This record gives sequence, structure tokens and C-alpha cells, in this order.
Amino acid sequence: MSDRLEVRSHDRSYTVELGVDHVSALQQYLGAEEILLVDPNVLGSHARLRELVGSRDPLLVRASEAVKSYEGLVPLLDELVRRRVTRQHRLVAIGGGVVQDATGFLASILHRGLRWVFFPTTLLAQCDSCIGSKTSINFREYKNQIGTFFPPEAIQIDLTFLATLPETELRSGFGEMLHYYLVSGEADFARIEAALPNALASREGLQPLVLRSLEIKRAVVERDEFDRGERALFNYGHSFGHALEAASDHAIAHGIGVAYGMDLANLLSAARGLIPMALRNRIRQTLSRIWSSTPIPALDPARFWDGLLHDKKGRAGSIQIVLTAGPGRMLSVPLLAGDEERKQINAFFEERLYQVDR
Ligand SMILES: NC(=O)c1ccc[n+]([C@@H]2O[C@H](COP(=O)([O-])OP(=O)(O)OC[C@H]3O[C@@H](n4cnc5c(N)ncnc54)[C@H](O)[C@@H]3O)[C@@H](O)[C@H]2O)c1
Ligand SMILES: [Zn+2]
Repeated sequence: MSDRLEVRSHDRSYTVELGVDHVSALQQYLGAEEILLVDPNVLGSHARLRELVGSRDPLLVRASEAVKSYEGLVPLLDELVRRRVTRQHRLVAIGGGVVQDATGFLASILHRGLRWVFFPTTLLAQCDSCIGSKTSINFREYKNQIGTFFPPEAIQIDLTFLATLPETELRSGFGEMLHYYLVSGEADFARIEAALPNALASREGLQPLVLRSLEIKRAVVERDEFDRGERALFNYGHSFGHALEAASDHAIAHGIGVAYGMDLANLLSAARGLIPMALRNRIRQTLSRIWSSTPIPALDPARFWDGLLHDKKGRAGSIQIVLTAGPGRMLSVPLLAGDEERKQINAFFEERLYQVDR
């Protein structure tokens, strides 16, 4: 049984179909006006997809951060222009968040806007990035500095893509999902806390978890699509997570960095007396399932701090972080002036305060 979700956006609504079979769903997008942009890893591991689109000359989009940049988009633009892309065309993206961002950004700038459709193939793209309208590319070493708000007209989610997703990417997706459940509230957190061990062990039973994750995100992006207020609370775990990703040269996958970042935020929240340490420890138990096979490598603290300062959500003059007064009660606050919190953050890494069995 598939689920259907409508998401309201600034200029129109779009639909998410969850639990589709990609081969049947793709049939409606194989006309002369469609141009497919596909992650070659996905094509390589899904024979039915290959049979269906192989003869249609899809553009291959490698899932590397380098593709999401001006230079990285040039070969794709060359090819699209060579194929004489017009406003009548529709782009069909099949892949994870990289293919999504590259295709969405191209769709938003080509002829001032082409229709596009997205088939997310990673858990992160399915439970998070596919909705919310954002398209972003990187500039120099800084991530997602350039972008637009340009949602696809439809999103088709086939969970069977996840059968071939590498374990680290799966955990990264669960890290992101956990973040939505924590931002939502105690009932949702208790639900994922109970469901996560089985969901991690077998990729079965995911549909209701993904659906709920999208519902939580939808409620906020419908109220604050352009990220001027409430949506910033989704930054919970993210400023620290991004800095950790950057300082580790991306050895830490996004959702895993976010899991570490949430624990660090919870630790600082406990230190400020916003939550009891027992709650921080309870949440850490679940978060540690995400990062258990990805220890933090030796980091240069200066690079971590540089990343934190450059995080696009930081405000001039102070570093804005999201702390918590408990599940569902996130708050955006400045990092304390003085050294105390800086020392706590350095200790988190140096003394490995995230380890559960310390
Ligand atoms: N636009 C947004 O709102 C938004 C939100 C979050 C993240 N993002 C962006 O998304 C990107 C990360 O995307 P991601 O985590 O989805 O991963 P990804 O697109 O980088 O893919 C991760 C890896 O998994 C492979 N892969 C993808 N699907 C597969 C499948 N079904 N089977 C086997 N291998 C598969 C890819 O080839 C790649 O090697 C980042 O660039 C991030 O900035 C965008
Ligand atoms: Zn994220």
C-alpha cells in the first residue's frame, strides 16, 4: 500500500507518493520531453531500472560534492544545451541528495525554471531532503552556499532502493530521521527509540517511519518554507554536525555528524541546566546506535571552529546554536561568551564524552 502526502509550497502544492514501485512510477515520465539524470551507482545496482532507462541515454550524475558546484555542473549544462533543452522539457532525477540538489538547481536556472520530478534513492533523501524546496550547490570548500527554493512537481519514493544502499549511508539517513523525531516531541522520540534497533537490523517496516519523518518536516516547512524563523530549529545538531563533517574531511557522513551534533547540543543543554543529564544520557543511548561503527577521527579543533563560524546559519558576531529543553522544545541561542562552552566542546572530542560505556 502506498501513502500519499501533499506539501504546500510558495507557488503550488506538490505530491509525495511513498511506497511506489519505481519501474511502474517511471512509466509516466518516459516521453520525449523528459530528460533523466541518474546516479550511476543506482543504475549499476538496479537491473530493472537499467533495462527501463538504459536506451534513453540518461545523464549520469556522480554523487560527489564536486558535482554540486559551478564547475561540476558545466558538463551537465553542456549536455543539456546540446540536447536543446527548452521550457517544455522536464528533468527526472533518480538518486540521493546530490542528484537532487544538482538537478533541482539546474531546473531552477535553466530557462528560468523547468519542471522536475524526483525519485530519491537514499534514506536521507527519502525521509528528509526530498521535501522542503531547497536546492543548493557548494562554493569552494563551503557547502550549500548558493541555491534556490524550487520544489519538484512530484516525488516518488520506492523503499526497495534501500536494499543496495551502503550501511553507512543507511545509518546517516536514520541519524537525520532521529533528528526530526526529536524536534517533534516526546511521543515521537519514544516511538523511534523503540523502533530503531529493528529498523537498523532489517530494512523492513520503514514506510511508516519515513512517512512520519516527512509529516514532521512538512508541518514546519509549510509554515516557514523560506527559513526565516521556525525552520531554523531544524538546525538542531546541524551546526555542530556540519563542522564535524568538514573537520573530518567528510569521513563522517552527514546524518552521522548530525547524531554526534545532537549529543553535543544535549550535553551543552544539560550544562546550562535546560535538561537533566539523565535525559541527555537516555537520548545518547539511541543516538549511539547511529554512530557505533563510525568513531570520530583525530580532529584539528581549529578546523572544527572554523567550520562552526562559517556555518551559514551563524549570525554575524556570534555563533548561533540550537539547544534543547527536551524533545519538541528546541531553542536557538548564542554560544556563551567566554571560554566555558568552548572548553566543553573541545572536551567532547578530546575526552570522547559521546562514548556510552565510559
Ligand atoms: N536540498 C536539501 O534540502 C538537502 C537536504 C539535506 C541534504 N542535502 C544534500 O544531499 C547530499 C547528500 O545526499 P545523500 O545523503 O542522499 O547521499 P548521496 O546522494 O551523496 O549518495 C550517497 C552514496 O550512496 C550512493 N547511492 C545512492 N542511492 C543508492 C542506492 N539506492 N543503492 C546504492 N548506492 C546508492 C551514491 O552513489 C553515493 O555513493 C548533500 O550534498 C547534502 O548537502 C540537500
Ligand atoms: Zn540534515
